Amino acid sequence: MAQPDNTKTGFSHEKIETNNFLMIVLILLVIAVGGIVEIVPLFYQRSTTQPVAGLKPYTALELAGRDIYVREGCYNCHSQMIRPFRSETLRYGHYSTAGEFVYDHPFQWGSKRTGPDLHRVGGKYSDDWHRIHLINPRDLVPESNMPAYPWLEKAQVDGDSLPTHLKALRVVGVPHTDAEIAAATEAVKDKTELDALIAYLQVLGTALK
Ligand code: HEC
Repeated sequence: MAQPDNTKTGFSHEKIETNNFLMIVLILLVIAVGGIVEIVPLFYQRSTTQPVAGLKPYTALELAGRDIYVREGCYNCHSQMIRPFRSETLRYGHYSTAGEFVYDHPFQWGSKRTGPDLHRVGGKYSDDWHRIHLINPRDLVPESNMPAYPWLEKAQVDGDSLPTHLKALRVVGVPHTDAEIAAATEAVKDKTELDALIAYLQVLGTALK
């Protein structure tokens, strides 16, 4: 059968595929248009830029706990994003929505689940449960392979850097008040890193519960 003669159109596949420069320019064009169409609306949509009703900025203590969560690498084993699948919502609760993360800089969605998703762990257990679990997970879940974090109980929260941290978050849109910033260091006085981490875990995902 005769092959269609597309050499006359001037813009044949062969021409594109044998010309590096043209290929690169066209690929960049396709990616740019695709990117703009997919990404730009996310910067303007209410659902991705406005906090869900009931979402509060982290308190100084919760924020300190969040920093410990990041420092200890909890995100290496725990995601904080429940996908909208029945198997996930039955296990963890309501799926995560973008408006729940507008005060998270950076978000802790993660991509690895050696342990369960933690987005809705807030209020699931008592503070005491978390205390025992973080000091030695095996005391509560014998088969657990989660590391123990006993030093958190002995370390004091470093409150000196918190006012600057809150101020920086305000620059990116988190509504921290002057009073809150001024009181941040005092608010975590005498608190251990374990107290802070638990305070953080206890508010996770509670806005939508
Ligand atoms: C090496 C992987 C790993 C790391 C790192 C890790 N975890 Fe875990 N985590 C697990 C596993 C596995 C479980 C399930 C067994 C258990 O409850 O101990 C779990 C369970 C939990 C639970 C109970 C969740 C539920 O719904 O029952 C909490 C809360 C938790 N981890 C918090 C943390 C925090 C906070 C950190 C960081 C300080 C952390 N984990 C670090 C693996 C990990």
